Amino acid sequence: MGMWDYVADLIEYESLEELREICLKCSKCRLRAGAENVVFGEGNPSARLMFVGEGPGKQEDEMGRPFVGAAGQLLDKIFAAAGINRSDVYIANVVKCRPPNNRLPKPDEVDACRKYLEAQIKIIKPSIIVCLGALAAKTLINPQVRITTIRGKWFERNGIKILPTFHPAALLRDPAKKRLVWEDFKSLMKVYREVSVEQLTLGW
Ligand code: URA
Repeated sequence: MGMWDYVADLIEYESLEELREICLKCSKCRLRAGAENVVFGEGNPSARLMFVGEGPGKQEDEMGRPFVGAAGQLLDKIFAAAGINRSDVYIANVVKCRPPNNRLPKPDEVDACRKYLEAQIKIIKPSIIVCLGALAAKTLINPQVRITTIRGKWFERNGIKILPTFHPAALLRDPAKKRLVWEDFKSLMKVYREVSVEQLTLGW
């Protein structure tokens, strides 16, 4: 770890811009050296709804934006079907740099990046987080969970409602999972509407 990296873990971040600046300079783990870009995340900084994926793929690494490749295009279709506007939500990943050959991020890489995700959540303060896939679910809910068992079930951490579902890349490999993900999105939209109405009523 370089000096920056020690500082990065100590700072109480106040804005996403400040956090992004530090994240772009990160060299806490081996992934940065093999990546073109740091894919910090994007969207509405005061989103009520946040999506967390695994880590950037090839296209995401090239463009520096999350979910712009094949899995991202499928996610966009799911958003369209559910009536979700991409610019209303925030999209991030557990790790911000592309793992070589899209391998699963290693536990020490997830740990190195954990502070950034936690800081993003703390700044955005979403009411709902959707975990896209097993890694996000293990990182944000419990390392022991299995995505096949817990998908579609609601959890709560620090006052935030958390819904795990399958990763869109899993749907590309196994289209039979699409039906289950659609069930999860129907549940998501119901809770999202309830949360939005509650916040409007309370004037937040
Ligand atoms: N898969 C992910 O988990 N995240 C992305 O940004 C793209 C593909």
